[in-house]
Amino acid sequence: MGPAMDEVTFKSDTVLSDVHLYTPNQRHLMVRLNGMGQPEHTMATPLEDVGKQVWRGALLLADYILFRRDLFQGCTVLELGAGTGLASIVAATMAHTVYCTDVGTDLLAMCQRNVALNSHLTATGGGVVKVKELDWLKDNLCTDPKAPFSWSEEEIADLYDHTTVLLAAEVFYDDDLTNALFNTLSRLVHRLKNACTAIFSVEKRFNFTLRHLDVTCEAYDHFRASLDSLEKLADGRLRFMVEPVEASFPQLLVYERIRQLELWKIVVEPAA
Ligand SMILES: C[S@@+](CC[C@H](N)C(=O)[O-])C[C@H]1O[C@@H](n2cnc3c(N)ncnc32)[C@H](O)[C@@H]1O
Repeated sequence: MGPAMDEVTFKSDTVLSDVHLYTPNQRHLMVRLNGMGQPEHTMATPLEDVGKQVWRGALLLADYILFRRDLFQGCTVLELGAGTGLASIVAATMAHTVYCTDVGTDLLAMCQRNVALNSHLTATGGGVVKVKELDWLKDNLCTDPKAPFSWSEEEIADLYDHTTVLLAAEVFYDDDLTNALFNTLSRLVHRLKNACTAIFSVEKRFNFTLRHLDVTCEAYDHFRASLDSLEKLADGRLRFMVEPVEASFPQLLVYERIRQLELWKIVVEPAA
C-alpha cells in the first residue's frame, strides 16, 4: 500500500467514515484492493458513494443480530440500503436466506465480492446472501434478466412468502430518501404473507444550519416523525408498533457505541 493511501483528502462533498475516525490504526481494513486497484472499503467517500464504507450503525445492528439469534434462525431477511453488506452477512450466519439490497451496479458488485469473501462464515449454517437491486425510488423490483442484480419471479415470491425480518442501517440522512424508504417499507410489508419485524439503526447527527442559525438534527427529527406517522397509520390492514431498543446488549464488534447511536424496532402485524 503506497503512502498516498494513508492520507485522507477531504473534499467538500466527502463523508469521512466514523468507524475509521475513531479507529485510526485499523488501516488493515483498507488493504484488500479490487481489480481496479481500489480498496473494497474506503475511509472517506463522496456523498453518492456512502454505501462503500461501513457505518457505525451497521456495526450496532450487527451486534444486535448476534444478540437476537432467535429472531434470525432459519428466517428470510431483507436488508435495505445494505452498502458493504456487513449486516446481511452477519444475519446469514443464522438466517436461511438474506436478500441484501441497495442501488447501483458498482456498489452491488462490491457488496457481492464482500459476500463471496465471507461465504465460509455463512455456509456453515446453510445461509445464503442474495445481492439484489432494490431502489426505494422505484415502485417495482427489476425482473429484467439482462439487468445486473435483478430478481427472478421465484425470488420475488420467496421474498413475499417468507420474509419475517427487515433491516436497515444508517439510511436516514436525506429527507427525500427517508420518505422513499418509508414508502418502500409500507409497500413491502403490505405484500408480505407473514407478520414481520423491522430493525433500523440511526445516528443522531447534529449540524449547524444557516436556516436556523443553530445546531439541529433535522435528518434525525424527520426519521422520528416518519416513525410516528407509521405508528398512527390506520389503514385497517396492518398495525405498526414502534419501540426503541436499548443499546445494552453485548458489544462484540469494534466501534464506539456513542449515545447518539440508536436502534429502533417496528413490529408489523395484521390489524385485529
Ligand atoms: C450511509 S449508507 C449506509 C450503508 C450501510 N447500511 C452501512 O450502514 O454501512 C446509505 C446506503 O443507502 C443506499 N441508498 C441510497 N439511496 C438509495 C435508494 N434510492 N434505494 C436503495 N438504497 C439507497 C446507499 O447506496 C448506501 O448504501
